[in-house]
Amino acid sequence: MEKKRFYITTPIYYPSDKLHIGHTYCTVATDAMARYKRLQGCDVLFLTGTDEHGQKIEDKAKEAGVTPKEFVDRIVEGPQGVKDLWKLMNISNDRFIRTTDDYHVSAIQKIFKKMYENGDIYKGKYVGKYCKPCESFWTESQLVDGKCPDCGREVQDAEEEAYFFRLSKYADKVQHLLEDTDFLEPRSRVNEMVNNFIKPGLEDLCVSRTSFTWGVPVDFDPGHVVYVWVDALFNYTTALGFLNDKYDDYEKFWPADVHFVGKEIVRFHSIIWPAMLMSMGMPLPKKVFGHGWLLLDGGKMSKSKGNVVDPYLLAQRFGVDALRFFLLRTFPFGSDGNFSNEALINTINVDLANDLGNLLSRTVSMVGKYFGGTLPEAQTEDTGKDAELVELISSLRGRYEEQMEKFAFQNALSEIFKVIDRANKYIDENAPWVLAKDMEANGSRLARVMYNLLEALRVCGILLTPFIPDSAAEVLNQIGACEGCRTWESAGVYGSLRKDVTVQRGKNLFPRIDMEKELAALEEIAAQAKKAALPALELEPQLTEKVDFDTFCKSDFRAVKVKACENVKKSEKLLKFTLDDGTGTDRQILSGIAKWYKPEELVGKTLMAIVNLPPRKMMGHESNGMLISAVHTEKGEEKLNLLILDDKIPAGAKMC
Ligand code: ME8
Ligand code: MG
Repeated sequence: MEKKRFYITTPIYYPSDKLHIGHTYCTVATDAMARYKRLQGCDVLFLTGTDEHGQKIEDKAKEAGVTPKEFVDRIVEGPQGVKDLWKLMNISNDRFIRTTDDYHVSAIQKIFKKMYENGDIYKGKYVGKYCKPCESFWTESQLVDGKCPDCGREVQDAEEEAYFFRLSKYADKVQHLLEDTDFLEPRSRVNEMVNNFIKPGLEDLCVSRTSFTWGVPVDFDPGHVVYVWVDALFNYTTALGFLNDKYDDYEKFWPADVHFVGKEIVRFHSIIWPAMLMSMGMPLPKKVFGHGWLLLDGGKMSKSKGNVVDPYLLAQRFGVDALRFFLLRTFPFGSDGNFSNEALINTINVDLANDLGNLLSRTVSMVGKYFGGTLPEAQTEDTGKDAELVELISSLRGRYEEQMEKFAFQNALSEIFKVIDRANKYIDENAPWVLAKDMEANGSRLARVMYNLLEALRVCGILLTPFIPDSAAEVLNQIGACEGCRTWESAGVYGSLRKDVTVQRGKNLFPRIDMEKELAALEEIAAQAKKAALPALELEPQLTEKVDFDTFCKSDFRAVKVKACENVKKSEKLLKFTLDDGTGTDRQILSGIAKWYKPEELVGKTLMAIVNLPPRKMMGHESNGMLISAVHTEKGEEKLNLLILDDKIPAGAKMC
């Protein structure tokens, strides 16, 4: 029989910054779905990639002083880049597309031309504002107080030639698609699209730009580059070989079974994407699923929030599987969820360490202790005491499948954990340690209890594979599951494990985490990261107000030599200086620099002081003047350096 095909995609990510845990969320969900379909025996194609064109990347590259291609290469292929991250997270994508790949670029040119030739793309005028000195074209909304956002000067009305896609022509068809089919899920997103974007009237979409060059050139009109979303959306088809020779899977895999996308890009995927496919005469994807955001303290994640959302850090501290599991167990896929370290540690401790980890280690060690690691074939029949657990295990696959088919990962995992909870309770109800006291009388009953526990672990282990591939394999190894009793089919059949199974004691799957200690450690790491992210050097802005020369000359700056210097008692800040100022009479100055200098290291030095300030009392000492230092901020910390002069300058020399 031919295998069922399943084509699933993630959005292709902008390689403008390092990816964070929010990006990881969608890719992990897609991976779980892809692995689940493979487990079921489907012929799966799982695509991910990077969306590398557009103004934002061009600007970032300029800032970094490299070409756009060099810039994206580093973030996509470099250390801790996009590809590295998916490898780390055990993502099983079959293909990775970069929109800068040649085959994609030339396919996009053909696609653009085809829509132009069929009349759905036409040349028009884009009306906006122009800043002549900057030679920049702006839209009304980009202006800052009505002026050029770059230089702040007046702008003028202007028109720019641009290509437009006849999105308006497809409004009714798209509305029908959204309202009358299951194309877009969850359903709540349909109302949002129809009410906010379609009902107010769909305008034609500007699909070319002339104000920057980092994009796919329109081959029949140099100077124009294809709008980045047209370029990006068609990745789902070019990566299969549509209008290119790189791959040959378009016929086999298109239309996609599902595109997973974040909620803010649902508009592009559920309105613009189907309209363009209709224009091309191509079949529509079967489904678009708009998932929620992972929030941090109720807000969107951002780099400024520091290291805490770095998937590398989290995976290193908690393990890849724990992180994958947390993302899909804690938040319903269609809604927003608040990420917190507490929630992460709690999930690991409760579900993984306590429930799953304990069930495995208790079961395997009891089989070791009571039966030397191999169960006897002589086992009693199940009794009424076993019925509930056995029934839960036997029916688990069906309940799990029902949830997985709806992309309800959280619910699918809940079904698994109901069985795990029940099995833990079953241990307490049957008290194997009591049965073990009289092996002659109870040995075959005890063997049956152990067998039922191993079966619970087996079926849960199989169904956990899409979520925690490595740990699930470890569960199956430890319970001694053979190849044939690790399959999707066998997950639906109670009793697949051989009766005289031999267990393999292994490592503790998920060690318990000390919540308080770990939170403190994470906080410290976040604080360090925040500090490291501060600007290396911060300088006071220069004053623009002018001071006239005569006023300046009224300040009397002199070279002074340090005769003595000591800490001021009870003050952490102040040093007291006895200075030779060339007059023959000692001058005393107090200076708040004890944080930076030890008194003894300054004796004998030639410094600079202003000597005609009015006297001031500080901590009971009189100060006549002020020592001059240079001040700046480094990594958020104030730094001070006294102006130390050449020793050949005599005391009292005037500075001018
Ligand atoms: O949008 N929680 O790329 P992108 C959940 N290039 N998901 C999040 C998230 C968070 N905190 N932050 C980001 C693009 N995402 C386009 C896609 S597809 C043809 C082109 C998700 O790198 C976001 O919702 O800005 C989106 O689905 C994906 O990461 C990529 O975001
Ligand atoms: Mg985005």
